[in-house]
Order: sequence, then C-alpha cells, then structure tokens
Amino acid sequence: MRMTVFGTGYLGATHAACMAELGHEVLGVDVDEAKIERLRRGEVPFYEPGLPEILQRHVDSGRLKFTTDYAEAAEFADLHFIGVGTPQRKGEFAADTTYVEGVVARLSPLLTRDAVLVGKSTVPVGTAVRLQGIADWHVRGGVRAEIVWNPEFLREGFAVKDTLTPDRIVIGLPGGADEQSPARELVEEAYAPILASDPCPVIVTDLATSELVKVSANAFLATKISFINAVSEVCEAAGADVTVLADAIGMDPRIGRRFLGAGLGFGGGCLPKDIRAFMARAGELGADEAMTFLREVDSINMRRRERMVDLTVEACGGTLIGKTVAVLGAAFKPNSDDVRDSPALNVAGMLSLKGAQTVVFDPQGLDNARALFPTLGYADSALAACEGADVVLVATEWAEFVELDPAAVAEVARGRFLLDGRNCMPGDAWREAGWTYRALGRGIPVRPASHTAANSGRLVTS
Ligand code: UDX
Repeated sequence: MRMTVFGTGYLGATHAACMAELGHEVLGVDVDEAKIERLRRGEVPFYEPGLPEILQRHVDSGRLKFTTDYAEAAEFADLHFIGVGTPQRKGEFAADTTYVEGVVARLSPLLTRDAVLVGKSTVPVGTAVRLQGIADWHVRGGVRAEIVWNPEFLREGFAVKDTLTPDRIVIGLPGGADEQSPARELVEEAYAPILASDPCPVIVTDLATSELVKVSANAFLATKISFINAVSEVCEAAGADVTVLADAIGMDPRIGRRFLGAGLGFGGGCLPKDIRAFMARAGELGADEAMTFLREVDSINMRRRERMVDLTVEACGGTLIGKTVAVLGAAFKPNSDDVRDSPALNVAGMLSLKGAQTVVFDPQGLDNARALFPTLGYADSALAACEGADVVLVATEWAEFVELDPAAVAEVARGRFLLDGRNCMPGDAWREAGWTYRALGRGIPVRPASHTAANSGRLVTS
C-alpha cells in the first residue's frame, strides 16, 4: 500500500518507518527541511532505540522516502496519516491544534482524487469533526477528503515495539462501528500485516469516542502515578516505605503494579499537557467539574519536584549556597533524549536558582538539555558529574546510573549523600559503601551525612 505520514517527530517518524517495515511504501512529510534531509540520509533526529535500524533499512530499500512537498504527498497516496504535535497553548491549558489544522488546510486543496486523512495526534474531543469542515471547505469540487481518527498509544523508548505490536488499534469513524466505507477499508488494510502476524483487538467506534480514548488513557496513567506519589507523601510523614506498599497493593490484579512507580513523577511531551488539555476541553463542554480532580493530579506531580529540592537542601545542611549537586538524568524518562517538561531538569533548574552549583549528566539528553537550560553545568559522564559533588541526585532511572559503583563515585565525590528521585538505586549497596541513601516516599527525617550512617538502614530495610 502507498501512504504518507505528516509530521516526522517521535510519533510520525516512528509510524512512517514502522509502516515501511510492514511492507508499505511510505512518504514522510514535514515542513522542517533540515529534519527531512537527515531522515533522507537514514538519520533519526532523536534518540529512540531500534528506530535507526528500521529507518536505515527502508531508506535503503526505497520503501521509505521523505519530502517537504505537499503536492508530491497529495499525488503519492490516498491514505494520509497525520502525526504532528498538539502542544499546550502558551499561557493556557488548552491544546494548540493549529499544526493539525494546517496539514488539513494545506493538503486538501492539492488532492486530485478522494482520500482518507487519518488523525493520529492527541486532540481535544470534537477536533476531527472540525477538521472535516476545514477539509470540505478546501477540497476541489468532486473530491472528498474523509477525516477519520486512529489514536496512537506509543511510549517513547518503546515506540517501535508499541507501533508494530500494539495492545489495541482504535479506529474512529464518522458513522461509528457500523460504518462500512472505503475509508474503513483503507485503514484496516494498512494494519492488516500487524493483525496477520500478531493479532490485537481492533476497536471501531465514533470519532468522539476515539479522540477521548487517548486523553482518558493518559489521564488515567497520570492519575495512577499521582496517586502513588500522594501516598508517598504520607509515607514520608509516617516513616513508611512507598515501594513496599506499591508492591503489596500492585499484587491485586485490579490495581496492578505498573505505573505505581513513586518518585519525581511524570513529565514529557504527553502526560502533563494532555491532562491540562482534557480539563480545558471538559470546561468548554460544560463538564468542567468532572475533570477538576486532574488539577490535584497535576499539583501532586509538581509538588514531588519541590520535595526533591527540599530534600537536597536538607542533605546540604540547610543551604545550597557553595554546594555542588550532581544531577544524574535530564531526560523525562530513561531510553529517551526528550527533555520536554522533564522533572529532572526542572529540579536541576530549581537547585541552581537556590544557589547550588548543579552539574547534570544524561546518556542521551545532554544536547537537548543544554539547549533548554544553557546556564546549568554539564558533564560528559556520570562520574565526571559527581566530581566534587556534596550530593548525588538520581533524577532519571537510566540503567547505567542504577549500575554505578558506589565506591567509584565515592572516590570522586566530596559528600556521601545519595538522593534517589526514582526509587531505582540499590540503596543497601550504597549504604554498605558508606553512603547515606535517601529516597522519595521512604521517609525518616534527613540528617547531615555524618549523622545518618547509623540509622540509614531504616530507610531501606522495611
Ligand atoms: C505516554 C503514554 O504512556 C503513552 O501511551 C502515550 O502514547 C504518550 O504518553 P510517554 O510520554 O512516552 O508515554 O511516557 P510514559 O512511559 O507514559 O512515562 C511518562 C512519565 O511518567 C515519565 O516521566 C515517567 O518517568 C513517569 N512515570 C511512569 C512515573 O513517574 N512512574 C511510573 O510508575 C511510570
């Protein structure tokens, strides 16, 4: 099958390469000439494990091409996926849908025959119907551009796997589940290779439901994380251990252990802006009360970042002035170079504002971090970041941080204080090596390093 994919970011580039992997002929489209040039050479402009290999394979095979030319795209296929960004609007909670609208408005008048435009971006409910109006307005006489929705659930770091072997495929059609149409056939045909090799449920529904499925899924995930982080606050106050608690409640299959990882909370380009956009859209629809709890979900999440800063101040004996803090992690999660709304960088920035010399290291996110926060200190390795540090703070759970040798870090660091913002470090090993180990949600009052060696066992042995 021939198809195009508009937008070549984390979502679009992955979708384009994976569609080629499924055997389709794909044209990736973007307005960013420099990005398209890199993709044409087989270079992925961001870090995503497994993607460079399939991108290169299909650039070489000729099944995957890239262009900035919308007319070429209109001519190339009858099926067009849209995976451009829907960021938070400046100064508002609502999502900015101008890029999605822009694709539809620019592509529609160039179509010379009927086509199906498949939205994959996360959008406020009602967007697809609005886009249909834009398409109808712009198309040439006698041409029909049908808007359908097909939300994407991929996680960064697992994007290839999530695209090639999804948990489910959701297709939103104007006529809902009963609609039998060329549009439905085209979308089903695109995914047929997935269903043939590794079947997953396909849910066909109306446009509004399909749009809401995506924001509801992200709101639920955010709520689950904030739930455990709220409990984490109580654990700190009560001297309990949130990790043991999460293991225990997670054994109930109705609850499940995944996304009960207490720590610095959620960041990235999706969860924070999606819950805000959901609140804003519910408000516009007159259902604002239904989603006000998401305000609390957001607040709990942001409070964890502040708590991390407070813990660091305590670990430094009450002031950050004159202190050096190694911040291990800049990406919003491991196996990604994405620093959008990253809790790690947010904490590093706050520590710096409070007078600390902050030295950040991340295995993949350094360039993006430098561009966003040029005034922070950066190092080229975890050990280099820890040189002379009074406190070492783990903010992103990269495997190489978890595997750090506490003795090796002790050789370069000034202090012996490890703050675990992700509950990922082997606390016992660090404690045995003479470190004071402190993690979010596993609370006893923090003491300066010299006082804590004796009681630090209580932090980790419950
Ligand atoms: C999310 C959704 O998972 C995905 O389905 C959707 O398509 C896009 O948004 P992503 O943003 O890639 O994916 O990251 P995700 O793995 O969901 O993690 C989001 C944030 O939550 C990260 O900052 C992560 O560190 C944090 N998190 C996750 C926790 O704090 N605790 C957890 O237990 C899990």
